[in-house]
Amino acid sequence: MDATTNNKTATLTVGNNSYELPILTGTVGPDVVDIGKLYAQTGMFTYDPGFTSTASCQSKITYIDGDAGVLEYRGYPIEQLAERGDFLETCYLLLYGELPTRAQKDDFDLRITRHTMVHEQMARFFQGFRRDAHPMAVMVGALAAFYHDSTDINDPKQRMIASMRMIAKIPTLAAMAYKYSIGQPFMYPKNSLSFAGNFLHMCFAVPCEEFKVNPVLSAALDKIFTLHADHEQNASTSTVRIAGSSGANPFACIAAGIACLWGPAHGGANEAALAMLKEIGSVDNIPEFITKVKDKNSSVRLMGFGHRVYKNYDPRAKIMQQVCHEVLAETGHHGDPLLKVAMELEKIALSDPYFIDRKLYPNVDFYSGITLKAMGFPTDMFTVLFAVARTVGWISQWSEMLEDPQQKIGRPRQLFTGHTRREYVGIDKRD
Ligand code: CMC
Repeated sequence: MDATTNNKTATLTVGNNSYELPILTGTVGPDVVDIGKLYAQTGMFTYDPGFTSTASCQSKITYIDGDAGVLEYRGYPIEQLAERGDFLETCYLLLYGELPTRAQKDDFDLRITRHTMVHEQMARFFQGFRRDAHPMAVMVGALAAFYHDSTDINDPKQRMIASMRMIAKIPTLAAMAYKYSIGQPFMYPKNSLSFAGNFLHMCFAVPCEEFKVNPVLSAALDKIFTLHADHEQNASTSTVRIAGSSGANPFACIAAGIACLWGPAHGGANEAALAMLKEIGSVDNIPEFITKVKDKNSSVRLMGFGHRVYKNYDPRAKIMQQVCHEVLAETGHHGDPLLKVAMELEKIALSDPYFIDRKLYPNVDFYSGITLKAMGFPTDMFTVLFAVARTVGWISQWSEMLEDPQQKIGRPRQLFTGHTRREYVGIDKRD
């Protein structure tokens, strides 16, 4: 179902002139004022740094109610998908719009797990990177450079093939980036394993030893992937859509999304949250840290807290906290002092007026760093894991954008505040 107008309008008054702007209604969520013709009608732009009040597209994929703490993929609550389904089922749902039947699911799983190998030349490509290159940099380079323009982006069948390739092969590239950074040989994927189990195998197995996938850790990783699969028009997804709006190939678009995800305010937050917990070190140091966070001159933030959209508990954070306890119990880290610091920090922050007034609640990244660390992942792999999971969301949104008849190249305007026209002065005549 597309947005409806219901003949509702908003009136904009500028001086003596009034303009009627259509109001569009979706299936759920706030209405939007359609300002697409505003410049043509009034000669004015709108101004919205950070797009806090701007809907950049129509989408049927993911719905968030930030005030109520709701996240739904194609209408299904994240709690139900994480508890009752698995990551590949979520991938199918995001790509096709419906949950698969048993036969569709079996076929989809087979198609993904049978396409996990990457071209052997990729192994040589990795040698070009410095040994200590960040795995995110390796991922961006590998995707953008290696997979050239092989997809007719206007053909839905080819778009789906590219999407499946990406979901299947990005974990392999991610695991290779990790192995390269620690100087271990690459492990070929094992098609008999589950998606998450295979990823653990490619990261942690070595050729000289038998490796058995731990089912608790594999189930936990699968849940973590589901929680991160999509999150509507966040910074990296918007980056993918903007990159795709120019007609760039899907591999380059996903590389752009990975680059955006890298930042500490987005996907890098779990790495930053873990670093913060380590810096605090013990429960005794929390009050001093909280004082710094509240000091406007300190620029210290409570990492893993706050969200542009959620002004309530991030629904992913609740599931993540439970996964964290399961993983730490399984790996024997339940006494981890960092977990104690995290739980105490959460308790204090949730009762402190500074956080309550600003509606700052734990987000998904608050517990994911401790969890991934306990699973054996080094911190610079955290964002890579996020990218592995988010690939399906990015590619579903990219495909939806290309199907949208209203799709145009993304091209925001600006409010210019620089110099007005002035004459060039030769270098010898400048003071
Ligand atoms: N710690 C302390 N104060 C905070 C925090 C925080 N984590 N987040 C926001 N604030 C304060 C901020 O100082 C401001 O206070 P005041 O009104 O007095 O100036 C107020 O809350 C509003 O902050 P904002 O920066 O305008 O909010 P935003 O919506 O632009 O920022 C955010 C959202 C996620 C960037 C921010 O909350 C943040 O930096 N959090 C820490 C980083 C983090 O955990 N990021 C992961 C986000 S979830 C993963 C994902 O989806 O990518």
